[in-house]
Amino acid sequence: MHAGRVAALLLGCLALGRAEEPCARCHPSEVTAFERSPMGRSVGAPSVFEKGRIVHKLSGSTVTIERRGPLLEHRLERGGVVAKYPVAYSVGAGIVGYSYMVRLGRYLFQSPASYYTQTRSWDLTPGYETDAHLDFTHEISSGCLFCHTGSVNLMRGTANQFGDPPFTAISCERCHGSPAAHLENPVPGSIVNSAKLAPSRRDSVCEQCHLEGDVRILNPGRDWWDFQAGQATESVFATYLRTGGGGTLRAVSQSELLAESRCAQKSGGRLWCGTCHNPHAGEQNRAQAVKQACLTCHGDLFAAGRHRAAAECVSCHMPRLRPTDVAHSAITDHSIPRIAGAPEPGPAARELKAWREPDAAFVRRDLGEAYFELAASTQAVSDLQQAYRILSQLPAQQRQDPTVEADLGSVLLAQGQPQVAVQMFAAASAQVPSNARYAYCLAAALERAGQMEKAVQEFKRSMALDPSAPDAYLGLARFYRKAGREAESRNVLREYLRFMPQNIQLRLAE
Ligand code: HEC
Ligand code: HEC
Ligand code: HEC
Ligand code: HEC
Ligand code: HEC
Ligand code: HEC
Ligand code: HEC
Repeated sequence: MHAGRVAALLLGCLALGRAEEPCARCHPSEVTAFERSPMGRSVGAPSVFEKGRIVHKLSGSTVTIERRGPLLEHRLERGGVVAKYPVAYSVGAGIVGYSYMVRLGRYLFQSPASYYTQTRSWDLTPGYETDAHLDFTHEISSGCLFCHTGSVNLMRGTANQFGDPPFTAISCERCHGSPAAHLENPVPGSIVNSAKLAPSRRDSVCEQCHLEGDVRILNPGRDWWDFQAGQATESVFATYLRTGGGGTLRAVSQSELLAESRCAQKSGGRLWCGTCHNPHAGEQNRAQAVKQACLTCHGDLFAAGRHRAAAECVSCHMPRLRPTDVAHSAITDHSIPRIAGAPEPGPAARELKAWREPDAAFVRRDLGEAYFELAASTQAVSDLQQAYRILSQLPAQQRQDPTVEADLGSVLLAQGQPQVAVQMFAAASAQVPSNARYAYCLAAALERAGQMEKAVQEFKRSMALDPSAPDAYLGLARFYRKAGREAESRNVLREYLRFMPQNIQLRLAE
């Protein structure tokens, strides 16, 4: 690695600051406590410099982790070929552990190595285990950063190309909305205070990051960052759950568990995350703070002698569900059971249900999209069929939404109808010419439909729009190889290597 480049990367780390902090002058204790909290520290420069080594049998690779001067270096070796990346940022505050990002030009990629606090050891990053060609290939998108940062600095019109610094740490605005009116007139009521909002808007403040569900679907034309504290999440995106433990593939969040509690169900919407958590209280004694929260509703319990005296409540009514070794899953039982015990998984549900329905106009559209996205992870034909059934029956005008067109195109292509698929992808691509994915899908459909020249054109257009996505290069290289044009095939792969010079799969293929 070139010395100048290392210096530039390092500067990139140090330059990661907070958004301008105009609140400290009047609310110094909130600012200090929040900056120290796990949420305030959820992205930053790497803080763990322990050595490590991970062997990935499936791909025959070894990842080693080492300190190099001020930098943390992740090194990948396979078949005698080595790739070395300095880590640019870490994600997480170390409750479960940390994941890492490397920077390649304007793009960010997740490292295949993560650190786990409980075992104080390095292991593979979730999602990388099944990669036959392990490499630094999982791109960090704006959606991933939506929950771990305060704001992103994206290049105009792109969803994955970042300026410098690429993002800021989670800030006051994510829970309090725009501060403009408050800074002009700093009085109660001139800024969002979630505790004073109606339940759906109040809960949305935390759910934007704490309720991932099985899938979340953006309403037509929306972006994650359109959401502002004070709104209901479903005005920007709808969250879908496959209820009943047996039916879900994922970890369950605190929001879902709390909704199952008798306390939430019987208290008329008064119980919410903020009842027990104040993100900037810096409480010394959590057990007492939580007990006080319980007693706001159960104050008469002890006076009436219906319960033995208790110094705290959590050990029996909010026990730990499991050890802290998996990110993105509730550790504490937020269903507040009468008698401690793992919550019984309900019957396996097949249907997706909206956490809260979006605007009536999008109810069917978002549900169809949800089944489509779900099918991508479950690989279940029934989910894909359900998606097709719903999306293809939308009113004509809603079928012209580019996301819907592209998804219908994908189903048609999978069903062996490339001609119609071409029409769908062409329509989506005409509406959003900057979308590299649509161009790639169009190319693949054109190839299957036998329109070779046009396919080549679209593969190349996709590569130009997003040089970081390997699919279009691989598609075009495969296409040339099948046509016996070996030299051109190799050239395409070399072009990808120019973008990603350390990629091991391609270097081994050379
Ligand atoms: C010039 C001083 C000043 C600055 C700067 C300031 N505030 Fe305030 N803020 C106040 C005062 C005064 C109140 C009312 C306090 C009270 O009633 O106890 C307040 C109240 C609030 C409330 C509660 C509002 C409500 O309706 O309950 C929030 C939330 C808040 N501020 C957040 C912020 C944030 C975030 C920033 C930075 C963007 C900020 N403040 C900057 C002075 C300031
Ligand atoms: C911008 C996204 C975002 C929002 C909004 C958000 N959180 Fe978080 N929260 C996180 C992330 C990310 C973590 C994990 C931090 C880590 O360990 O890296 C977290 C961790 C936590 C934790 C565990 C750590 C601790 O401090 O004990 C609590 C509790 C929590 N959040 C409560 C809330 C509540 C309550 C709200 C709403 C008032 C809220 N969060 C809103 C992103 C968010
Ligand atoms: C929907 C919001 C959301 C998305 C998207 C998301 N996270 Fe998280 N992440 C959270 C929350 C909330 C927590 C805290 C979990 C908890 O305790 O419930 C967390 C926890 C973590 C932790 C553990 C932090 C610690 O202190 O132990 C890591 C590491 C992490 N996330 C990495 C990532 C990476 C990398 C991505 C993108 C590829 C990502 N997350 C995407 C919300 C999200
Ligand atoms: C993760 C969400 C979250 C973030 C981030 C956050 N707050 Fe708050 N804030 C809340 C909640 C929830 C309340 C309401 C507390 C209550 O009344 O129970 C609140 C209330 C306040 C209040 C009113 C006083 C109080 O405690 O009731 C002030 C002032 C305030 N916040 C300032 C800030 C400042 C300054 C920042 C940035 C450093 C910030 N907040 C970041 C969630 C957040
Ligand atoms: C916002 C009010 C509120 C808060 C705060 C609250 N609860 Fe409750 N809780 C209720 C209501 C209402 C019920 C239902 C009472 C009934 O069925 O008669 C309930 C029921 C319960 C039950 C019985 C559950 C069952 O399945 O029979 C337990 C145990 C309980 N709460 C414990 C707690 C503990 C511990 C805390 C604090 C960690 C807490 N609650 C906080 C309102 C609340
Ligand atoms: C009745 C009290 C109560 C309510 C309401 C509550 N929590 Fe918690 N939460 C706790 C307790 C107790 C813990 C254990 C750690 C601690 O004391 O902070 C915890 C821990 C957490 C953690 C750390 C990871 C874990 O599972 O231990 C997160 C994240 C969190 N809560 C988020 C939320 C969110 C989001 C909401 C709203 C949907 C919420 N909590 C509502 C009491 C509560
Ligand atoms: C040592 C364990 C333990 C502790 C600590 C504890 N509880 Fe309980 N609690 C129980 C058990 C067990 C029951 C169920 C009793 C039964 O079903 O007869 C119960 C029942 C309850 C109920 C339902 C009562 C009813 O009449 O329906 C509430 C509410 C409750 N607890 C609140 C609390 C609160 C608030 C605290 C903290 C101040 C607390 N508990 C601390 C064990 C505990």
